[in-house]
Amino acid sequence: MINHITDCTVLNNHVQMPWLGFGVYLVKEGAETEDSVMAALEAGYRSIDTAALYKNEADVGRAIARSGIPRQAVFVTTKVWNADQGYETTLRAFDQSLKKLKMDYVDLYLIHWPVKGKYLETWKALEKLYRDGFVRAIGLSNFLIHHIQDILEICEVRPTVDQVEFHPELRQEGLHRFCIENQIQMEAWMPLGRGRTLTKPTIVAMAEKYGKTPAQILIRWDLQHEVVTIPKSIHPSRIVENSQVFDFEISPEDMARIDDLDENLRFGTDPDNFHF
Ligand SMILES: NC(=O)c1ccc[n+]([C@@H]2O[C@H](COP(=O)([O-])OP(=O)(O)OC[C@H]3O[C@@H](n4cnc5c(N)ncnc54)[C@H](OP(=O)(O)O)[C@@H]3O)[C@@H](O)[C@H]2O)c1
Repeated sequence: MINHITDCTVLNNHVQMPWLGFGVYLVKEGAETEDSVMAALEAGYRSIDTAALYKNEADVGRAIARSGIPRQAVFVTTKVWNADQGYETTLRAFDQSLKKLKMDYVDLYLIHWPVKGKYLETWKALEKLYRDGFVRAIGLSNFLIHHIQDILEICEVRPTVDQVEFHPELRQEGLHRFCIENQIQMEAWMPLGRGRTLTKPTIVAMAEKYGKTPAQILIRWDLQHEVVTIPKSIHPSRIVENSQVFDFEISPEDMARIDDLDENLRFGTDPDNFHF
């Protein structure tokens, strides 16, 4: 039972990662990111998910430094962007990320997308960063089962996490089962369907039943599936709202009702068919 904002999953290399984090995709660089991250830290979040692509790593780093919270008390994730994949280029990209964050390590470094012909070399670079102590854990994002199998065949360090699109309309049950069997922690991006899932009648009805908001139902549903979740908002009141998910539990029957919304419906891009 996950019942506190600082509760953590234990990754396959024994590193602890908070179940709830704060995502900053599409949060503008500058004050918008800095203020949002500050609001999240004030609300008690201790995990921030950024990426080179988001162009706001510097603001994330600044907010964490400004908060006065010790660096080691915050779990920081960033990702290598597609254009930088390959061995040497990934090492250079990581160095840039670290400089922007003004940190000497990150907690989790992910391959953002499985770029064909590149991701195995990229993984080797992540292994080097891990061995050299610059990252506490390494993982994947948007990897389907066959992509993960490719990594498992060549890896010396196993991936700890796969961060994928996950919400009631896209549960990715097969992928989730595969991750569990291989001790890879699944992490949900777009947990609120970027707003779309909040108005689904089943979710609205569930919110009324539990005296919570639709966003809180969706975030709690992730946690009860033991999926790490990283909702984004730029509004302090919503940032707080999204963190108040530790004082109730969705019944198994209602979990199943939400599960039934699955339509294998992707709002984002298909990892087997992308051109960026
Ligand atoms: N690895 C990847 O490829 C990948 C892809 C996408 C996302 N991600 C990560 O996952 C994080 C979350 O996904 P996401 O940002 O795409 O979408 P999301 O968290 O599902 O949804 C964010 C949207 O929901 C709104 N919202 C947030 N809380 C709300 C609430 N309580 N009530 C009503 N509306 C609310 C936000 O609006 P306001 O901001 O206006 O409040 C925003 O428009 C990202 O920030 C990023 O860190 C990773």
